[in-house]
Amino acid sequence: MIEVDNLTKRFGILEVLKGISLAVEKGRVVSLIGASGSGKSTLLQCINGLEPVQAGSIRVDGTQVNDPRTDLNKLRQKIGIVFQQYNAFPHLTALENVALAPRIVKGLPKKEAAALAVQELAHFGLDSKANAYPSQLSGGQQQRLALARALAMQPRYLLLDEITSALDPSLVQEVLDSLRMLRKDGMTMLIVTHEIRFAREISDQVAFFASGKICEFGPPEQVIGKPQNDLTKLFLAAVK
Ligand SMILES: Nc1ncnc2c1ncn2[C@@H]1O[C@H](COP(=O)(O)OP(=O)(O)OP(=O)(O)O)[C@@H](O)[C@H]1O
Ligand SMILES: [Mg+2]
Repeated sequence: MIEVDNLTKRFGILEVLKGISLAVEKGRVVSLIGASGSGKSTLLQCINGLEPVQAGSIRVDGTQVNDPRTDLNKLRQKIGIVFQQYNAFPHLTALENVALAPRIVKGLPKKEAAALAVQELAHFGLDSKANAYPSQLSGGQQQRLALARALAMQPRYLLLDEITSALDPSLVQEVLDSLRMLRKDGMTMLIVTHEIRFAREISDQVAFFASGKICEFGPPEQVIGKPQNDLTKLFLAAVK
């Protein structure tokens, strides 16, 4: 599981995370919602060891992310991360994009990596696009490719940062459907999203972030359905 305990993160003098505690148990889906600048993306970066932290701890399957002795490359093989911005290699086909990390990082033979890529592409409904280049895919297909690429590394956890927010509204659903499928498969996910209705539907728990703190945390029926905190109420009224 992912365990964040009393985490403090500063950029210079700016305190961005102010004592965050959060646990994501195996097989669970936790969503982070909250205003722009409240620290959601920063938390994902810290969990993946991309940003140093100043106090508190983050453990992934018991391993301290911020211990200098931790092998971050090994840790990151457990954690798939997909961002809003599409980041496939433009000169590689969809299949080559998915096969790359299994080949280079995991050392799979080329044929095996390609077979794995075919399987993951099919999983996300992209079988017919194996030989297409990223620029030949729609935004929704590109995000599904990003998910296929992350899944090809067989991660234990997925961190998703607003992966639908750059998409045309007509393409959002196909990506959300992919996440519904992953949930059914039992994938453990930490999802930053502005899709409040989707967060309500897919999450076991929702954390509402405001100014670097978790103001409200609990099941979606509670945090989204019957918020207690005034800041949560204001935020939900503004986005609904
Ligand atoms: N590399 C950085 N250097 C300095 N400040 C940063 C850096 N990254 C983020 N910040 C600041 O940290 C705060 C939290 O940013 P973060 O990106 O985590 O917010 P967010 O909740 O993801 O917002 P959004 O919903 O807009 O994506 C903001 O005030 C931001 O300006
Ligand atoms: Mg963000």
